[in-house]
Amino acid sequence: MTDREIGAVSASNRAPHRAAMIVRIRTMTEADLGDVLAIERASFSSPWTEAMFLAELRENPFARFLVAMLDDAIIGYVGGWVIVDELHLLTLAVLPEYRGLGVARRLLERLFKNGEGRIVKASLEVRRSNRAAIAVYERFGFRAVGVRRGYYADPREDAVLMEWASAPTARAGRPD
Ligand SMILES: CC(C)(COP(=O)(O)OP(=O)(O)OC[C@H]1O[C@@H](n2cnc3c(N)ncnc32)[C@H](O)[C@@H]1OP(=O)(O)O)[C@@H](O)C(=O)NCCC(=O)NCCS
Repeated sequence: MTDREIGAVSASNRAPHRAAMIVRIRTMTEADLGDVLAIERASFSSPWTEAMFLAELRENPFARFLVAMLDDAIIGYVGGWVIVDELHLLTLAVLPEYRGLGVARRLLERLFKNGEGRIVKASLEVRRSNRAAIAVYERFGFRAVGVRRGYYADPREDAVLMEWASAPTARAGRPD
């Protein structure tokens, strides 16, 4: 399977000057980490360090990390672990000025495809106060299934545990 994908992303009312953007999704490499870390720091109160990304990219055979490119610029990324047919989502972020344009949705779609269509279940944790992210995940089909008390630090906060499962009919129709 190629790791490149072309997709048109419609602009929202928040960015009416961007009638359409051509966003390319590809696998994250170590060379991307400068840009990725800048987005990470702009997005999270407890950002991942370079060492954390490197450990995933270099040492974890289950890690799948993708970046979204607009021309030559990285505008978002997603990462997770794919273990057989299950995905655990670890991180997802989009540059603030490109949010609301469908970039996260495309990253998620591509990450699920990276499982070669075999992903039947997915899970994630998200800060309880992160309404934007929870909305994105709900739009994608995740549902809240529980709470992990005090899961996050800086600031301390509960995590909402969310899960996604493929429809039974789709599962029955899988080619394997
Ligand atoms: C969460 C985040 C990744 C979303 O990225 P994005 O590119 O703006 O999301 P998208 O434009 O792809 O939105 C996907 C869907 O969620 C909806 N959505 C996005 N932001 C929303 C918001 N703030 N409120 C309500 N719904 C929202 C969109 O309407 C869209 O629905 P649609 O596909 O039916 O149009 C982005 O806000 C971000 O980087 N936040 C900071 C980092 C973060 O919190 N990451 C998640 C950690 S768990």
